[in-house]
Amino acid sequence: MKKIGVLTGGGDCPGLNAAIRAVVRKAMQYDWDIIGIKNGWKGLINGEMELLTDYSVSGILPKGGTIIGSSRTNPFKNEEDVKKILENIKRFKLDAIVAIGGDDTLGVAAKLHKLDVPVVGVPKTIDNDLSGTDYTFGFDTAVSIVTQAIDRLHTTAESHHRVIVVEVMGRHAGWIATMAGIAGGADEILIPEEPFDVEEVCRNVEQRYRRGKNFSIICVAEGARPKESDSLITKTDKKDEFGHVQLGGIGHYLAKEIEKRMDVETRVTVLGYVQRGGTPTAHDRVLATRFGIAAVETLKKGDFGKMVALQGNKIVPIELEQATNTSKTVDKELYDIAKVFFGR
Ligand code: F6P
Repeated sequence: MKKIGVLTGGGDCPGLNAAIRAVVRKAMQYDWDIIGIKNGWKGLINGEMELLTDYSVSGILPKGGTIIGSSRTNPFKNEEDVKKILENIKRFKLDAIVAIGGDDTLGVAAKLHKLDVPVVGVPKTIDNDLSGTDYTFGFDTAVSIVTQAIDRLHTTAESHHRVIVVEVMGRHAGWIATMAGIAGGADEILIPEEPFDVEEVCRNVEQRYRRGKNFSIICVAEGARPKESDSLITKTDKKDEFGHVQLGGIGHYLAKEIEKRMDVETRVTVLGYVQRGGTPTAHDRVLATRFGIAAVETLKKGDFGKMVALQGNKIVPIELEQATNTSKTVDKELYDIAKVFFGR
């Protein structure tokens, strides 16, 4: 093994640079060259690459985003793109690829592996929805940003006796909402895994008023939906190359529904991309570093088609397919803990 390509695909998240740095530094121990593939799979289709040196990864550990760029490009939408990928792997003499991504990027990696491309995956996403790993990096930072926001929203909600609805990311999983909601002491947490009843949400708010707590914080995941509706609230009808709609709007929907039913003032805060930007927490820096090192070790063993995963306190290789076939949703046990505090 001499030359390894590394790419970051999908939505960016804090910790990507820490992972890239770890891949480069570990590969240097084996005298391998690391080539940064620009903007995810798009860079491999178009042959956009740059050599990553010790110098290029200096000082990037605390930096958010990704120095090599990202995109939501799906090469399997177009056979020609898959051909170009296979050609470019030969043309640039890449012996293997480290793909750092979520279910979409790693789903592509799994398919390429079936076409004999030597690839190892590294799990990242603020959504924490990849199977087979206890955590993805980026998640802890997002949870800590949302927790801080909920802390701040408490004081203003309390001063104005308002119901504040805070809408958070997470796509079809409620991990961010559940963890940050518990950490921030949200009075109600609504997640995609359990469609909610608006009447029940109002009853909980009412109960708090009766107990002298004349404000409430409701943390709602962007993918949550009311029981009576089959469809998700989206920003546009447009889909990305992996068929995902852009979620958003449930916070405003819910606030309106509460005002229709109760004599309370509501306000909405949509945290959006703030959750994905900026410096990673220490936890995410360490996890991303461990994953990056493990990815290179997995390549060294020739153990392709794997994703490095955190299980307990160990990093283990698992099949890429196992990680990407189904998404990991919130445990009922954890959500039940959150529920103890609803309406209290
Ligand atoms: O997967 C990460 C994520 O931030 C989701 O939580 C969110 O639904 C989505 O990406 C937003 O995607 P985009 O960056 O394409 O707007």
